[in-house]
Amino acid sequence: MTVAALAGAAYIVAALLFILSLAGLSKHESARSGVIYGVAGMAIALIATLALTITDAWTTGAVVGLTLLLTALVIGAAIGLWRARVVAMTGMPELIALLHSFVGLAAVLVGWNGHLAHPVIAPQLVGIHNAEVFIGIFIGGVTFTGSIVAYLKLSAKMSSAPLMLPGKNALNIGALIAFIALTVWFVNDQQLWLLIAVTVLAFVLGWHLVASIGGGDMPVVVSMLNSYSGWAAAAAGFLLNNDLLIVTGALVGSSGAYLSYVMCKAMNRSFLSVIAGGFGIVAATSSDAEYGEHREITAEGAAELLASATSVVITPGYGMAVAQAQYPVADLVRRLRDRGVDVRFGIHPVAGRLPGHMNVLLAEAKVPYDIVLSMDEINDDFAATSVVLVIGANDTVNPAAAEDPGSPIAGMPVLHVWDAENVIVFKRSMAAGYAGVQNPLFFRENASMLFGDAKDRVEDIIQAL
Ligand code: TAP
Repeated sequence: MTVAALAGAAYIVAALLFILSLAGLSKHESARSGVIYGVAGMAIALIATLALTITDAWTTGAVVGLTLLLTALVIGAAIGLWRARVVAMTGMPELIALLHSFVGLAAVLVGWNGHLAHPVIAPQLVGIHNAEVFIGIFIGGVTFTGSIVAYLKLSAKMSSAPLMLPGKNALNIGALIAFIALTVWFVNDQQLWLLIAVTVLAFVLGWHLVASIGGGDMPVVVSMLNSYSGWAAAAAGFLLNNDLLIVTGALVGSSGAYLSYVMCKAMNRSFLSVIAGGFGIVAATSSDAEYGEHREITAEGAAELLASATSVVITPGYGMAVAQAQYPVADLVRRLRDRGVDVRFGIHPVAGRLPGHMNVLLAEAKVPYDIVLSMDEINDDFAATSVVLVIGANDTVNPAAAEDPGSPIAGMPVLHVWDAENVIVFKRSMAAGYAGVQNPLFFRENASMLFGDAKDRVEDIIQAL
């Protein structure tokens, strides 16, 4: 059997392992084996590619390809290992966005190479090849700049507020029409300036699409860019004639699109509006409203309220992850439960910066699964709750989403914590949440602010108890 045939078989095994990996990652219990399948699939794919390149160098005597591959492998593996070891959990989304940008850039480069390398192609397939080059560059370009903007927004290096250019929808639709027209032109007449034009057009469109999306919709954007990066990889697979890249790209593209759809449903957003760069979202008006005075509470005051409570719900958010407060929170929960208080958690689907972020932190601190409830499971119970502890959450408990149609987060389902008897909000200042919207909850009669780092304040409460 030739090395090429063996590599083909290895690619099929790798593709199957990627499918098993996706299936495993869909549940908590099987997530670990899902990761192992993914690593095994990728290792097999890399070994097969290496074997093909070594055989090529052996038979042709040209070692440039092999040298480049080995250099890329060593540098890529070193950077990957280092980043994976040092990245904080809260920094994962921006790292993922940055990785998507590499896939996009790779697809652009593969597309350009597909044209400049002048491959020998059967005459009846030349049109298809040129369309592949053009479409690959376009999808890759949109993914590249879109992911860079997502990275900048997620790492707070760029404002998370949506860019509101006049006629933004017309700009996006105009860019799509221009792309279709240029594709037809390029298929008939392969002029270099057309490739330059589509590259620039894709870069500008990617930038604009993601810049137009507000902070509250960023989770959907990250999974949508995940999907785009899959299609970009599939397009590169067609050009490179690599079946594994086509299959893997299609898996990533379709699973990312499905995740975006599920998230849009959970957040009551229109899928089309988000993928079209906030299409139809009108500029919001409400953030300068006056809400009056807020009240403050001390850790001792909070401990007193908790000591006399019968039921407590904790709604954690991004601030709990920043403060790494999950361990004292778990300790506080144990103590309250020992005193006979009914304590549960209410988890919003986009609390934190990653799907499942809060669940992972609480599992890490050994909080029992059965008291960790989803937003839909807990939302009707707030009215019968004595005390809600909002630990570093903000957008996910903002009543403006439910009550103010002019708010940028209007329509997003939120945890109805304000229905409880008392609400204690743990944060360091009156600053807005990720979506940049002020939170009227902080000014409600039944709400008090407990300022400071969430971990320190929870520890103070444990002391006072
Ligand atoms: P956010 O709205 O992000 O607010 C977090 C709050 O935590 C901030 O207001 C901050 O206030 C406080 N905080 C930060 N560090 C703290 C510390 N050390 N101690 C105490 N408080 C601290 O939180 P959220 O309710 O979890 O909402 C998540 C937001 O992120 C949503 O808008 C969501 O759409 C977006 N997002 C989510 C995801 C996913 S998939 N989950 C991905 C990307 C974006 P101070 O600065 O005043 O302390």
